[in-house]
Amino acid sequence: MSNLVVLVGYMGSGKSSVGRKLAVKMDLPFIDLDDLIEQVEGKSISEIFEKQGVLHFRKLEREVLENTLRENLNAVIAVGGGTPCYYNNMDMINEHGLSIYLRANVPQLSRRLFPERMQRPIIESQQSLESLQEFIGKHLFERSPFYERAHETLDVGLIDLDEVVQHCEHIIN
Ligand code: S3P
Repeated sequence: MSNLVVLVGYMGSGKSSVGRKLAVKMDLPFIDLDDLIEQVEGKSISEIFEKQGVLHFRKLEREVLENTLRENLNAVIAVGGGTPCYYNNMDMINEHGLSIYLRANVPQLSRRLFPERMQRPIIESQQSLESLQEFIGKHLFERSPFYERAHETLDVGLIDLDEVVQHCEHIIN
């Protein structure tokens, strides 16, 4: 198996920030699946959702994931919050690399995501912190079974970014 680490978890759990730092420490390239999708499509994630719809986005996401994993790269990949929950993406991720679920709780995710909700099509219609919290609570309940299929789970709630990266390194080595 190649030296491939795949970070999964809800939006705002820190996948991209952790992935970027972890990749530097492991001397591996970092790939952000959302960035790759934007490059392939030549549009932002918000534009893809708005103009082509969520189903098109999920197909595109699957295609880009499949092509990336098939390259058998040595890399750290951060996938989107929804990626593990569609098609058999989680099986495919687990077959190709070591997956780590960055698990954060609902209040933490809500606080982090509220100020930046307008850049995130899934939650942009949530007007208050309370409604966002309720939405994330239900959404996480639906998505957790997919995330929990990751090889490893790391609770990221009470620790800072550097500690999360250290824990990931510990899991990998
Ligand atoms: C999504 C999460 C986003 C992005 C898209 C859909 C989701 O990725 O793929 O907006 O369904 O949770 P991040 O988790 O990297 O923000």
